[in-house]
Amino acid sequence: MTIQWFPGHMAKARRQITEKLKFIDVVIELVDARLPASSRNPMIDEIVSHKPRLLVLNKADMADETMTRKWLQYFEGKGFKAISINAQAGQGMKEIAAASKDLVKEKFDKLIAKGVKPRAVRALIVGIPNVGKSTLINKLAKKNIAKTGDRPGVTTAQQWIKVGKELELLDTPGVLWPKFEDQLVGQRLAATGAIKDSILNLQDVAVYALRFLAEHYPKQLQERFGLEFISEDIVELFDEIGKRRGCLMGGGMIDYDKTAELVLRELRAGKIGRFTFEDPELLEE
Ligand code: G4P
Repeated sequence: MTIQWFPGHMAKARRQITEKLKFIDVVIELVDARLPASSRNPMIDEIVSHKPRLLVLNKADMADETMTRKWLQYFEGKGFKAISINAQAGQGMKEIAAASKDLVKEKFDKLIAKGVKPRAVRALIVGIPNVGKSTLINKLAKKNIAKTGDRPGVTTAQQWIKVGKELELLDTPGVLWPKFEDQLVGQRLAATGAIKDSILNLQDVAVYALRFLAEHYPKQLQERFGLEFISEDIVELFDEIGKRRGCLMGGGMIDYDKTAELVLRELRAGKIGRFTFEDPELLEE
């Protein structure tokens, strides 16, 4: 589902999260492990600054494992507690509860020392659309109680979901907007399917993705499409993939839209293998 993020929607989203922050101890910030920088909300640090935060790299099953390790180190270096998970398969669920508890340990210990009764840690999951918030809530809740998809503007009564004895989650996640002012960020988000009905040109997005894969994951690309070699000329590369997959128009001409669609569909489905678009070392650039 595509959300139109007008300034009014952004202000409302921010307001809704700020309201929820009053009730919680920990913010669980969910990002896509394939693009941990681009899948963060640009104002997240400001919006949730005063709460302990757990950074969770989701969809780790689709990301390059070496890069995921690098990203975790990078975030830890910045002072975040960070873990990687696969919400779809339910991997890393225990770590979420343990890490959340860890984040408030000092505060809770002090309260307990003062005689306050111990209670579960209350958490809110936040993130941009499509990072897997609903999937994660459903997995933690162990049944399908969270709605999938995002409905900005629809407010429902707030409910807590118990995750074992020590964690409680708000049932609706905080939905924030992505960074779209940067063309490259937009292309990465579109390539992974975070922006589905892309306002970006499909061929442009596929060109970006193919160039990136050709440079960083050439073997995977070659194997998936049965290419003898990877042409440095992007049109030739398109032609070769289009030809091999029968994306043709009348007269045997390559159908570039169809080829772009096919490449992106396979990339998003993980059929071209695991990849990570962003390297923390290159972040400053
Ligand atoms: P959101 O609430 O943050 O908007 O995201 P949501 O949970 O709706 O998840 C977006 C898509 O990402 C879903 O796929 C979901 O299955 C997938 N997903 C979530 N977590 C993971 C993960 O750890 N690994 C992988 N590989 N995929 C994940 P979809 O195609 O939009 O829907 P569906 O096919 O699951 O119905």
